Amino acid sequence: MYEDTQRKKKIIDCHDVFKIYKQGKLEIFALRNLNLTVYEGELIVIVGPSGSGKTTLMNVITGLERPTAGKIKIKGLEMTQLKENQIEHMLQHKFGIIFQFFNLIPTLTIYGNVELPMLIAEKEKKFQKERIKLLLDKVGLLNRAFSRPHTLSGGERQRVAIAMALANDPEIIIADEPTGNLDSISAQKILNLFQEFNQNNPKKAIIIVTHNPIFRQIADRTLILQDGAIVEEILNGEMKKKRNEDVL
Ligand SMILES: Nc1ncnc2c1ncn2[C@@H]1O[C@H](COP(=O)(O)OP(=O)(O)OP(=O)(O)O)[C@@H](O)[C@H]1O
Ligand SMILES: [Mg+2]
Repeated sequence: MYEDTQRKKKIIDCHDVFKIYKQGKLEIFALRNLNLTVYEGELIVIVGPSGSGKTTLMNVITGLERPTAGKIKIKGLEMTQLKENQIEHMLQHKFGIIFQFFNLIPTLTIYGNVELPMLIAEKEKKFQKERIKLLLDKVGLLNRAFSRPHTLSGGERQRVAIAMALANDPEIIIADEPTGNLDSISAQKILNLFQEFNQNNPKKAIIIVTHNPIFRQIADRTLILQDGAIVEEILNGEMKKKRNEDVL
């Protein structure tokens, strides 16, 4: 009994997952018998060579794509049994996704971009305004609220993408190469944002796909993906604990 209450809850559970793309007669096994469990409060880093299935894994976890076989449970809900509108609801309310090739809407201001996910989720107007201000302040871009995306640097745009992902207070953050092509100072700022989210949200989870080794400092585990399967798991708990203590 005591042990049960001590045990952390599963937030993501992938069981024997396959994703096979067909191109003519060719079958591409993007995910191959993949198993992964993520617990509440965990920050997971995923690394692996190009084409190893990292983005595909993020897509099947969020429901953007359906696996060819296997089961994926999000907080106990079996994703493969959900209807399209239920998946859409999960995407809008449960997940905050930062895409590998993120796209801000060029005709909207930074404010308008961050507002967008909240409009779609039909959040109350006053709440929206306050939250956009809070988020832009958090990512250090409050003074750029009424600029358009093309006037921002790559790092600044990526921080807008993070503000957008956090807009609806998601339970799971999925970030696919959030610091690709960014300088080390911008990458450090993004790392700090994820660390803060992780420290303040012990019941939520973060998965970051990244080649940037600095992220291992804030990860509980680093998983290595190869040919569509997890081939190695590195525990980073001690490193994370030390960094958290340094920050406090
Ligand atoms: N829609 C698709 N149709 C056909 N094949 C696909 C599709 N999406 C991905 N693949 C293939 O699945 C494999 C895994 O791709 P994925 O994008 O998941 O790799 P990745 O690990 O994210 O790579 P990168 O580091 O380059 O982003 C690759 O061989 C890719 O070509
Ligand atoms: Mg990818």
